[in-house]
Amino acid sequence: MRFVKKISTLKKIISHRKKKGDIIGFVPTMGYIHEGHLSLVRTARKQSQFVVVSIFVNPPQFGPKEDFRAYPRDLKRDMQLLKKEGVDVIFNPTNKEIYPEGYKTYVEVFDLSKILCGVSRPTHFQGVTTIVLKLFNIVQPDIAVFGKKDYQQTVIIRQMVKDLNLDVKIVIGKIVREKDGLAMSSRNTYLSNDERRRAVVLYRSLQWVKNAYKKGLRNPKKATQRINNMISKRGGRVNYVEAVDKDTLKPVRNLKKGTLIGLAVYFGKTRLIDNIII
Ligand code: PAJ
Repeated sequence: MRFVKKISTLKKIISHRKKKGDIIGFVPTMGYIHEGHLSLVRTARKQSQFVVVSIFVNPPQFGPKEDFRAYPRDLKRDMQLLKKEGVDVIFNPTNKEIYPEGYKTYVEVFDLSKILCGVSRPTHFQGVTTIVLKLFNIVQPDIAVFGKKDYQQTVIIRQMVKDLNLDVKIVIGKIVREKDGLAMSSRNTYLSNDERRRAVVLYRSLQWVKNAYKKGLRNPKKATQRINNMISKRGGRVNYVEAVDKDTLKPVRNLKKGTLIGLAVYFGKTRLIDNIII
């Protein structure tokens, strides 16, 4: 496994591999690797001959009052975990390497980036699409793997790939959860023991809505209000709960197959997201 900090070095390695005919698989991350990330790496491994994982905590996708500085980092542990999975290259550039002085270009997928998480994080997705496009241009992957946990992110990236005619196949991996159902996230480390126990309500409420749908519930307002109540009762501060079409992310009039229930909830200062497709 090689550990690369420079764009020019990575580009040379990739062009060499491409000449050999290798399919390049890519998993972008912000590090603090957990089983969710590793499941994406395994998917990439299966579908390619050369796997690149980036670890870069991307400043522009954090708002001015968000947790960029506090975001958990443990490069040594990340390297050990990724080495075990047979990753070929870890790309870990500095902020300066990615955004040198005088940097001016940002990419935005209109509309989709302003709904759901984009309401309270208005510049977040612009930061995400900018870094993902830059990484795609640097890594030149044939396939790139993203997790369903950040569902809106996957829809936005697919739209960018389509709109900008990028030659990369986007593969989406399922949500990996802790034993009690909480979706794995680097941010879970922020939770106190008490918050961690209460946070189980997110998955429980999503399971509830899936079951209620099976039993005949069709009214999206009733569904989201009930979820809201379940979460509030457990001390979560709901940022949003919405029932939307899984492809367009537009609100649905009736719950149906292919409806995405997405939510964002604060426990203390920690903002957690989760979703389910019914
Ligand atoms: P990060 O939060 O590190 O996540 C990296 C990838 O892992 C994303 O595709 C995310 O959806 C996926 N992931 C996170 N938790 C998961 C879980 N429990 N199960 C399955 N997959 C999971 O998402 C980002 O970083 C950044 O926005 C990035 C795309 C790297 C751009 O900076």
